[in-house]
Amino acid sequence: MSAVLPVLSTRLSAAAAAAFGTSYDPELRSSTKPEFGHYQSNLALRIGNALGRSPRDVAARLVALLQVEDLCQTPEIAGPGFINLTLLPETLAKAVNEPETFSSNGQRVVVDYSQPNVAKQMHVGHLRSTVIGDALCNVLRFAGYDVVRQNHVGDWGTQYGMMIEQLLEEGISAESLDLEGLQNLYERSRKHFDADGTFADKARLRVVALQSGDPETRAMWRHMVDVSLDDFDKVYALLGSNLERTDVVGESAYNDDLPRVVAELEQQGLLTESAGAMCAFLPGFLGRDGDPLPVIVRKSDGGFGYSATDLAAVRHRVSTLHADRIVYVVDHRQALHFDMIFTLARTAGWLPGSVPAEHVSFGTVLGPNGKPFKTREGGTVKLVDLLESAVARADGLLAGREGVDRAATARAVGIGAVKYADLSSDRGNDYVFDLDRMVAMTGNTGPYLQYAHARLTRLLAKAGTSAGEVTTLEDPAEQRLALLLTGFAATVEQVAQTLQPHRLCTYLYDVASALSTFYEQCPVLSSEGATRASRIALCTATRKVLQDGLGLVGIGAPDAM
Ligand code: ARG
Repeated sequence: MSAVLPVLSTRLSAAAAAAFGTSYDPELRSSTKPEFGHYQSNLALRIGNALGRSPRDVAARLVALLQVEDLCQTPEIAGPGFINLTLLPETLAKAVNEPETFSSNGQRVVVDYSQPNVAKQMHVGHLRSTVIGDALCNVLRFAGYDVVRQNHVGDWGTQYGMMIEQLLEEGISAESLDLEGLQNLYERSRKHFDADGTFADKARLRVVALQSGDPETRAMWRHMVDVSLDDFDKVYALLGSNLERTDVVGESAYNDDLPRVVAELEQQGLLTESAGAMCAFLPGFLGRDGDPLPVIVRKSDGGFGYSATDLAAVRHRVSTLHADRIVYVVDHRQALHFDMIFTLARTAGWLPGSVPAEHVSFGTVLGPNGKPFKTREGGTVKLVDLLESAVARADGLLAGREGVDRAATARAVGIGAVKYADLSSDRGNDYVFDLDRMVAMTGNTGPYLQYAHARLTRLLAKAGTSAGEVTTLEDPAEQRLALLLTGFAATVEQVAQTLQPHRLCTYLYDVASALSTFYEQCPVLSSEGATRASRIALCTATRKVLQDGLGLVGIGAPDAM
């Protein structure tokens, strides 16, 4: 049996269609305390308004046609024409015992996320894309999509010409440099480039050599990329990210496609020359001054840039990867870029109307002072350092706990706390990186949910069984918990559509809160007979929802903490 709410909605729609031939979304609302399992629909009011008829008469017609005796008590009409529905406890119990599952939807979704840049440490800005992207991939897969991850690493561009030329001048071998060495090399080469015209010319020639595949140049570049990817892998391992080396399809992968992309746009008459650069001007895209904004596909120096690469990537994702949906997890500052890329790709016929392309935008991580996160010296904060301090903080909390695998648990709790804080508020918002708040055991935090799970695990171990079914649901607290559990699949589905992971976090927090009320109102181990068995089954179902839900947002659920 599937979740109760969608079934009720479908039945209401069917009654409305039979009586009035209209198709309305019934928008069921759960009425709040004191008793749960109550729903109210304003469908009759909306139909009444639309057709100019009395809502109470419309409600009476709907109720006469509504077939819900297998799910609800007899529907009631209230006030101006609301329809009140009260679930039967058996309906709820059955829905908890037979949770809804997903099967493949036959759709492939390509998710572009993480995307750090070569020769630079991953910084806190890459945290959000990685954490949100991982969570969305898990959710989309769970909801039946075939998920293809694409780590669009920044591994191409004119800076590699400068860096390679600098290495050659200094007589240093590329092999001798680690990521920090590369970062310093970049600084030196940048200064040199700005100060010395001869060097700048050599660097430009070196870019040409790189792009045309000169073996010596390519080998040096390859080394820089490999050193960087090794370092990213360490951060992914610490984060527990699902990204693999095979998901890396960096900017360089599109190098050979770029001339063709530009040629095709030109053939289609979509390009205009502007100050030596080839640009597309799209209707409706204007700058602050009201002038048309260009998508620059070829720069005046003949080089291709970020936009050309993204156009090639869209084309590849549709025609080679056969994407049915494309998702980009990138910070909000690139909103206009993606809007223009998607528009141009649609105009050029590379992105059919049937394939949605979505920019999953997110806000900035702020430091304690409420400004974008920087070190005291004004540098960027290394992500590894932040993650390690979160694990250390969690380790401190676990001091003296018995029966806990301290190192593994500290990692799960520390990393989980950071991820949960990132995912639990609307991704469009900025947030302050505040470790104290993140690792708190109370409130809407990762550790609070992990603790709810660990406590259930302990209770079930004491109970000695986790088998059995929910049979009786008498107390409102257990009804409310049961009702929430039946909403898991619908919540996952909603996140798969809206790409808003905070909805799943809010749901899990509601479950954990309902669980704690349930503990207060309903003894489990000290109850008897059928009630005890049913409550143990309810706890088992709750544990599974918490475990699955935390898993989807990429957070471990230790058995003890
Ligand atoms: N590497 C880029 C940056 O750090 C983000 C890339 C986003 N993805 C894309 N397809 N453009 O800003």
